[in-house]
Amino acid sequence: MFAIEELDRYVENGLAALNFRMEPKELYQPIEYMISIGGKHLRPELCLLTYNLFSDKIEKPILYPALALEIFHEFTLIHDDIMDQAELRRGQQTVYRKWDNNIAILSGDVMSIKAYELLANCPEHVLPQVLALFSKTAAQVCEGQQYDMNFESIPYITMEDYISMISLKTAVLIACSAKMGALIAGADEKIAQSLYEFAFDLGIAFQIHDDLLDTFGQGNIFGKKIGGDILNNKKTWLLVESFKIADNKQKEELNAIMAMGIEEGEEKIARMKQMYETLGIRESATAAIMGYYNSALEIIEKNDFNGAQKEQLKRFADKLIKRIK
Ligand code: IPE
Ligand code: IPE
Ligand code: MG
Ligand code: MG
Ligand code: MG
Repeated sequence: MFAIEELDRYVENGLAALNFRMEPKELYQPIEYMISIGGKHLRPELCLLTYNLFSDKIEKPILYPALALEIFHEFTLIHDDIMDQAELRRGQQTVYRKWDNNIAILSGDVMSIKAYELLANCPEHVLPQVLALFSKTAAQVCEGQQYDMNFESIPYITMEDYISMISLKTAVLIACSAKMGALIAGADEKIAQSLYEFAFDLGIAFQIHDDLLDTFGQGNIFGKKIGGDILNNKKTWLLVESFKIADNKQKEELNAIMAMGIEEGEEKIARMKQMYETLGIRESATAAIMGYYNSALEIIEKNDFNGAQKEQLKRFADKLIKRIK
């Protein structure tokens, strides 16, 4: 079995070897840019990792489908940044800010097609299964993104609404990455499904963590604008939980903050942060992240993995929850 750092190297070298130096450059340059500004590459890493639980042979039939997950993910980020009006991504200008909306839309579109092209390199006998899984997942991500946008303009959602929204926009792609690696390695469906469920719970933890870092992270490390979710009235874990535990006066304050406009942006962020501190939301979000992390590890315990496989999966989970970017 490879160390996680070695799997990372496969991903990095693989991405660097993809050639997007094509014409028209307005279409392809943003893709090169997006790849060049980095990112954590957790989805392709996880796909290689679950594959590598069963096989050491890392070649095109697994590497390209793993890269497909990253290219698809980066496409969703390019479009997400238009939708969220974000200025910064990975510490750099977002694609639609560096170029414009039309460029970002079309580069994103071609990336989703390139993702399918890469995916088609998987072994022929699993191609129907892999394609079905990936297509279903890709549609679910769009569904989640639409719920995320719908929720911006409604004042209050339940925790159940929140969890189903993030299941779609975030958790299913991470889950799909884990399952795909196992399927391509030839693991049986039951084992592949348990990896899906493991990664799904990690994906929920990952999005709650993203919400937490969006407000309480360090801007220069996180690489996105701190407070962006607050400015957009995003229904994050922090906000949903706040409404759950706030008394009537605190609810009034939350509503008043949400009614503040973009011109009062910095004050809006500061007041919301203060409310979160008062309500102990930082601590409760951390506890929620740990809860999903533990339930992910329980899934691994309950299934037929040997000691080395369990350790490798735990290393990945540990790395995810320790992240600060
Ligand atoms: C950002 O994903 C979008 C979410 C699902 C929270 P990542 O945090 O994996 O972004 P990169 O790829 O590392 O930049
Ligand atoms: C994005 O959620 C999920 C997808 C891109 C599908 P966010 O909007 O929270 O992601 P960031 O914070 O911009 O990375
Ligand atoms: Mg978004
Ligand atoms: Mg966003
Ligand atoms: Mg976010």
